[in-house]
Amino acid sequence: EKGGWSSFMAKEVSEEPEAVANTLRGRIRDGVVAIPELDGLDDLFREVSRIVIIAAGTAAYAGMVGKYALETWARVPVDVDLAHEFHYRDPVIGPDTLVISISQSGETMDTLMAVKYARERGAKTLSICNTQGATIPRESDAIVYTHAGPEVAVASTKAFVAQIAAQYLLALHIALVRGKLSRTEVAQHLLELEAIPEKIQHILDTEQEHIEQFAHWMADTRSVLFLGRHVGYPIALEGALKLKEISYIHAEGFAAGELKHGPIALIEPGQPVFVIVPSPREAPVMHSKVVSNIREIHARGARVIAIAEEGDAAVLPISDEVLRVPLAGAMFEPLLAVVPLHIFAMGLATAKGLDVDQPRNLAKSVTVE
Ligand code: M6R
Repeated sequence: EKGGWSSFMAKEVSEEPEAVANTLRGRIRDGVVAIPELDGLDDLFREVSRIVIIAAGTAAYAGMVGKYALETWARVPVDVDLAHEFHYRDPVIGPDTLVISISQSGETMDTLMAVKYARERGAKTLSICNTQGATIPRESDAIVYTHAGPEVAVASTKAFVAQIAAQYLLALHIALVRGKLSRTEVAQHLLELEAIPEKIQHILDTEQEHIEQFAHWMADTRSVLFLGRHVGYPIALEGALKLKEISYIHAEGFAAGELKHGPIALIEPGQPVFVIVPSPREAPVMHSKVVSNIREIHARGARVIAIAEEGDAAVLPISDEVLRVPLAGAMFEPLLAVVPLHIFAMGLATAKGLDVDQPRNLAKSVTVE
């Protein structure tokens, strides 16, 4: 039930802190990851030579974020594949591959078909799923449930942050098992992860009204671009997808480094561009690169909306709007930066008088190939 909320999406965005907290709850003990569903899998985690993540839509963007964590922490090569592209191209997988599927509904036909294909090829399959007892987890060798709670709005929001949190738990566990991070390092990252729900809540408390008002002013916009780098790149894609999906505005996400390889030609005076800015403290090199991207588009008249860490002053003279997120380690930023983008998409769709929960032409779970 919607309770007092204007839409399920509004309710579900407000539940993002809880979705992360519930996905972590009971799964961290004495500074290590303790997920009973993973018992008995440590040999597999030690021995796999690669991981392939398969998913579609928003879940695939969560997978792209997960790739950074798995590679950085656990040092396993990771590919992220769109489920519907996966089995049609005869991918190179076998018993040395761990295939991780990510799905909120657990019923997405494309993802299910890819999981079945992977099993037939002898790969081990692990499902990250939000719906208890759904088909995809039943077809997989192992399951880690996200506990985001039922998601009703077609646009996936709280499930997305929960999917990232679940992958981080998994990545830190695999990193420890493979001896790539020390117990102390794992414990530190877990502490950061546990602090995320409160930080998301802070964004909702301090920025939501501002973003909704801003979205209202932007109601006539015809096109919006999103730029991000590193873990901010999938967040740019997610921001663009949400906007297309519920406000029917043309939107595209780019890796900030690609700008000069083509997309900068799109920049003309007044073009709104959201830029996810890495932390100046945690990722100084990437921060300065993204700041120079902003300079380039600002100089060409773009209307820059920066999503930047509190206290980052470098963005001020070159941005038209700054949406603030609390300080966090570089890997944890996506869990924060995505929140203003979810609020923005919802605000814009609302300002246009659209049905945010049930956008045209779309279904909550896509059960056909
Ligand atoms: O249920 P799933 O997570 O497998 O769904 C995958 C996509 O269909 C889904 O994330 C879709 O992209 C959302 N509507 C995006 O908000």
